[in-house]
Amino acid sequence: MTLPTPIFHDLPAARPLDVVILAAGAGTRMRSTLPKMLHEVCGRPMVAWAVKTAHDLQARDIVVVTGHGAAQVEAALAPSAVRFARQDRQLGTGHAFLLGAAELRGDADVLVLYGDSPMLSVDTLNAMRAFHLQEHNALTVLSSELPDATGYGRIVRGEGGQVERIVEQKAASPSELRLTEFNSGVYLMDARAPELTAQIGNDNAAGEYYLTDLLALYREQGSRVAAFKIPDPSEVMGANDRVQLAELARLMQRRINERHMRAGVTLRDPATSYIEDTVLIAPDVVIEPGVVLRGQTEIASGVVVGAYSHLSDSRLAAQVQIKPHSVLESAVVGAASDVGPFARLRPGAVLEEGVHVGNFVEVKNSRLASGVKAGHLAYLGDASIGAESNIGAGTIIANFDGLNKHRTEIGAGAFVGSNATLIAPLTLGDAAFVAGGSTVSSDVPQGAMAVSRSVQRNVEGWSLRYWRQLAAQPESQLARKLPWLASWLTRQS
Ligand code: UD1
Ligand code: CA
Repeated sequence: MTLPTPIFHDLPAARPLDVVILAAGAGTRMRSTLPKMLHEVCGRPMVAWAVKTAHDLQARDIVVVTGHGAAQVEAALAPSAVRFARQDRQLGTGHAFLLGAAELRGDADVLVLYGDSPMLSVDTLNAMRAFHLQEHNALTVLSSELPDATGYGRIVRGEGGQVERIVEQKAASPSELRLTEFNSGVYLMDARAPELTAQIGNDNAAGEYYLTDLLALYREQGSRVAAFKIPDPSEVMGANDRVQLAELARLMQRRINERHMRAGVTLRDPATSYIEDTVLIAPDVVIEPGVVLRGQTEIASGVVVGAYSHLSDSRLAAQVQIKPHSVLESAVVGAASDVGPFARLRPGAVLEEGVHVGNFVEVKNSRLASGVKAGHLAYLGDASIGAESNIGAGTIIANFDGLNKHRTEIGAGAFVGSNATLIAPLTLGDAAFVAGGSTVSSDVPQGAMAVSRSVQRNVEGWSLRYWRQLAAQPESQLARKLPWLASWLTRQS
């Protein structure tokens, strides 16, 4: 058995890492009843991105500090193995951290993340951690540069370039306001952080407990404080309103799309591909323009997803063709099947191999065995359809009696003619035939043919008499509107 390569093999033995995610803020500028932290970026609430990042860092304990919309935020994160600390009043980042840290064992390095900065990558944080350990820092702050860093706390460095403190916008002098290096709000600290944070006061312009005051407290202890400056400020971008949220989503989508393209997926027009982070795509898949892929969708190799199709929580096996404008929701499509254009597969639709579902066919909670063909305009609900059966255009399975749903079982090799209505509960045996236009409400045995429609009669000359009558009416428009028919009438004896 081979062990995974340790990331920090040339570094002091990595100490355990705990993470505190600050997520109590209000986010009033979102103008939303949904808590800011739950606004989604590429399929995941912002705060869930921070939790995922913490998990990907192999953090030991993760605490999320909640406040505004706490119950909703906690419910959304319930499945993700984190603990919560409630901050009922937002008295500042220092106060929030202290509440979060109270949930920790207090013997590990602590990383502080924000719940509204989803772009921060695991690679960057690993590099920051390596720097932190290598330099034997007590506190490392993640910083970056912006030509205009208005709104952010600025990193103030001394003569030798060493980090001295962070000054908040409100307290900054004119020369400090010109500093371009800003505080991202992400810090990696040793286990003393909580006890030092407890010493932070709120004697400042905002009357808040500033976590940034920790730098001075560490330095008073004679401990090393440094900044890990990253070149791309967009990695620590937060979302305060929906314009910034859209900008974040655009950057995140580009990152996701580039990951897929590097892994061998063709995105015909990546600018119009909406692919949530949770979607899995094999190499040699082609995604045409305007496609939306959501949730737990999985796509095997050789699949083509046609333009403007929308797939959520669906599984496509190898070589499947989804033609344009198809909508799939919790569907399973077997190898080499083709679907659409304009097809709809609803939850519980299962297509085995080589199934053909054509335009304007809706399938719900039904299994179509290998080789089934339903080429046009059909509704197939609560049914099981045996191998190689053919479902004619316009076939409707009437599965609903107004109160309950009923099943339809169709054997293998059955042929259902066009425009049949199959009234469930119903069983058609193997190789059964249904004559086109029939309404079938009783079971059809194996090998039998069901026909249920009135016997045809032809009424000779009916059409001639009908049109002559219309042509004879005063001010008839027939000759003007239907000239071919008018001349045909004159040619009849
Ligand atoms: C803070 C930093 C600032 C930095 C900026 C980066 C302080 C004092 N200032 O600014 O130097 O440049 O972040 O964005 O820390 N939060 C809580 N509870 C609170 C306050 C905040 O949970 O009581 C959370 C918010 O939900 C948010 C994060 O902490 O996720 C940052 O809060 P925010 O108010 O945006 O930070 P600033 O004080 O503006
Ligand atoms: Ca902020």
